[in-house]
Amino acid sequence: MNPDKTETLRKLLRSARSVCVLTGAGISAESGIPTFRGPGGLWRDFRPEELATPQAFAKDPKTVWEWYDWRRQLIAKAEPNAGHLAVAKFTIVTQNVDGLHQRAGSRNVIEVHGSIWKVRCVQCNAETMDERPSLPELPPRCECGGLLRPGVVWFGEGLSMRVWDNAEKAVCASEILLVVGTSAVVHPAASLAPMAKLSGATVVEINPDETALSDEVDYSIRGTAAQVLPLLLE
Ligand code: OAD
Repeated sequence: MNPDKTETLRKLLRSARSVCVLTGAGISAESGIPTFRGPGGLWRDFRPEELATPQAFAKDPKTVWEWYDWRRQLIAKAEPNAGHLAVAKFTIVTQNVDGLHQRAGSRNVIEVHGSIWKVRCVQCNAETMDERPSLPELPPRCECGGLLRPGVVWFGEGLSMRVWDNAEKAVCASEILLVVGTSAVVHPAASLAPMAKLSGATVVEINPDETALSDEVDYSIRGTAAQVLPLLLE
């Protein structure tokens, strides 16, 4: 990492009145949770787009739940890493459903894609938390007899308007937006960074690889979340 750029950013971050952090799967990679589009991201050769849809769930709820059950077990064993800890005092807008920001001490986490620890009945719509890493029966059922589904947003589904509104407000109110570990290809979440920039935020990308966003941001730092974030924020 370029030391001059690091020092400039450290100064900017120290003096900023408001910092917001937009995260994707990459921030949890160093906690041992594979990203969706990187190595180890496929489960039984399925791409996420083949499993994370209402159609896949309607056709084969057991297989979709087996994938979530695998991920719940992985996440339950994982610990927040130095990246999650370094940003814990800021407002977080995350595409992740793993809850690791909260476990790192973050108090203000806007989960635009929901939470893997929530379940919702497809029949009566009741939503509850269920933090057991592995569920005794797949697919699980609600007390009303309906099928329970993971409380996450799937491809082809709309985001909660209330949550989206909060996410837009948070990124647009920030003086600096740190964009960490997202390929920025899944919409509408991918539009949050350009929106923040239009509102006048300085946008800083932290990612070991170039992304769809790299050309649009003010600073692009090539490195991993757990290495770069503590350096910028300590
Ligand atoms: P992706 O898997 O698409 O992208 C992960 C990004 O993290 C890539 O750009 C990697 O280069 C980067 N990365 C990998 N290791 C990293 C590290 N140690 N530190 C920092 N960055 C690292 O994940 P998302 O962009 O989060 O949606 O994917 C967006 C959405 O697609 C997810 O929320 C999920 C998925 O399908 C739904 O389930 C609706």
